[in-house]
Amino acid sequence: MMHAKTILYSVSAILFCLLAMGMFYYGYKTFYIESETTEAPDYVYHFALIAEESDNDYWRLIEEGAKKAASENNIYLEYVAPQKADNDQALMLLDRMISAKVDGIITQGIEGPHFVDLVHKGIERGIPITTIDTDVTSSERKAYVGSDNFHAGKQLGEAIIKYTTDEQYVGIVTGRQDAVNQQERVDGLKEAVADYPRIKVVATEVSNITKTGAAKATYSLLKEHPEITALAGTSALDGVGMVEGLKDIAPNKDVYVAAFDILPETLELIKENKINATIAQYPEEMGYDAIGVMMDLQAKDMLENEKYTKTRIIRQEDLRNESETDTIK
Ligand code: BGC
Repeated sequence: MMHAKTILYSVSAILFCLLAMGMFYYGYKTFYIESETTEAPDYVYHFALIAEESDNDYWRLIEEGAKKAASENNIYLEYVAPQKADNDQALMLLDRMISAKVDGIITQGIEGPHFVDLVHKGIERGIPITTIDTDVTSSERKAYVGSDNFHAGKQLGEAIIKYTTDEQYVGIVTGRQDAVNQQERVDGLKEAVADYPRIKVVATEVSNITKTGAAKATYSLLKEHPEITALAGTSALDGVGMVEGLKDIAPNKDVYVAAFDILPETLELIKENKINATIAQYPEEMGYDAIGVMMDLQAKDMLENEKYTKTRIIRQEDLRNESETDTIK
């Protein structure tokens, strides 16, 4: 009896020791990992980049440029965006980033008083805010990095002026009606062609910054206005969508197509002569430069608030001669 008890006690003692050792070991490991992840990371700053739409190729290029500058300067960059372009969601993200007390926010400018109020709130709390790609000058944003969108719109008009002849009836496909940069581009285009009576803008349709949206917009433009002889797109996927839409509604019609941006598919269509011209923007440069501006803003207020990146007309001949990516960059 006594013997059985001793065995039972010994087994229990051994089990207890094993369990205790296991607890120490795994407990330590758990603690160790946790302490590693919760420990303040060794970053100089934590910035947020708020894009118009998360998986949009154009915004991914902005992110790429910004990430490059961030990693060169030991900065933690958080990329956030609505899944599909949506002003209310973007404004919510801006509010959230202000509450998270990041060291700085780079965001697309959003039209309206809500954005102006949020920027005010952020600035009051000492968080510098810079607009990228689209500016809202009425806000207290510290700086803007991106294209001069009105000027870029004029360049789109100039492409039609310079490279077409005779009467032209222009249909505009624009990204979004409530995006300031799109409005500025449309205004710039209209101002440029205003002095040319042979060129008339007949109608505008919205693409919602998607390829299928641009194809649908093109379809209805040409259905309702069969006199259209030229199309102008003001956001990055409009050109590709316009070509698709044309294939459906007017496959044999010779329509002059002027697009925006130099995403690979657009350049491909320029080579195939399906897009006649496009306005190049430099989103990687915008992202890269915006980080530099945010870093400067940590030390002092900006003296020069607008940092315009280049825009230019690109046509097939610009791609033909040499390695195209080098030429247009
Ligand atoms: C514009 C961006 C927009 C993108 C959509 C670009 O041309 O600058 O504001 O989000 O097109 O694809």
